[in-house]
Amino acid sequence: MGLLSAITNLKRRRDGAIRATVNKAAGQQNMIIDDCALVKGQKTIIRRFTREDVDKWLSWASHPDPLYSSSYPRQMHRYERDAWFAERSNRWDYMMFAADDLQGQLVGLITLRNIERSHSHAVLGITLRPEVLSGGYGTDSLWAFLSYYFDALGFDAMILDVAAYNRRAQRVYEKCGFIYTGEHWGHYDDYTVFSNAYYQGIRHYFRQHGAWVETLYYDMVLRRYDFLQRRQKGLGPIIK
Ligand SMILES: CC(C)(COP(=O)(O)OP(=O)(O)OC[C@H]1O[C@@H](n2cnc3c(N)ncnc32)[C@H](O)[C@@H]1OP(=O)(O)O)[C@@H](O)C(=O)NCCC(=O)NCCS
Repeated sequence: MGLLSAITNLKRRRDGAIRATVNKAAGQQNMIIDDCALVKGQKTIIRRFTREDVDKWLSWASHPDPLYSSSYPRQMHRYERDAWFAERSNRWDYMMFAADDLQGQLVGLITLRNIERSHSHAVLGITLRPEVLSGGYGTDSLWAFLSYYFDALGFDAMILDVAAYNRRAQRVYEKCGFIYTGEHWGHYDDYTVFSNAYYQGIRHYFRQHGAWVETLYYDMVLRRYDFLQRRQKGLGPIIK
């Protein structure tokens, strides 16, 4: 056996051992042993986000609704994409994950930002391909990802903020066990909020603050203990 293949075999055995430990810790069917999948849900498979995924992600149709358009990427040239990916991959406080459907199509991007050094917590971001919204993929991929987050990455809590008008996202977080902890105002890009009829029913979630328009956000948290209890009792969300 050549030196290179011996090293490769050793690396495979080490990685296999790590994954086996993760599976044991998870006590879950959905933690699978595979070189690229990290965890599997009923409708999605979670894996690390690669440079190739940047191109797939940028080919998603843009979201027609102004309320959600900021969650979707702006167009980038090839070198910008390389730089964008390299910059994010090299940050110690940021991680990116891809959610594929069972046919292998990229349907979601999950990010962790502001990762705290001791892994006590990180801030979640999740965006799905516009064509699959409200199809259960968000709930499925998040619930699966939570097992990886708490079991394998060993975080104590996941936090997030969600726009008060975004009932669909709130519902997904509620179904996964997140609870509300507070609220704050954040910047909003569309200056037509107070004149555009589109915002009529949700205008109370916006305010003029100096020169800026702001929208209300809710803060939410899911603690490791609560997630483990919920999973152990079989209280995970029903996947459509
Ligand atoms: C938020 C997001 C990840 C959710 O994933 P999804 O696959 O669309 O959501 P799901 O189909 O799994 O679940 C949606 C739930 O919200 C409910 N829902 C949808 N629209 C709703 C509304 N206007 N009011 C109340 N509930 C609503 C659905 O009925 C479903 O709940 P149920 O299973 O109890 O019936 C996805 O919609 C998305 O990427 N949106 C755009 C970007 C975004 O908002 N990201 C989150 C930023 S915090």
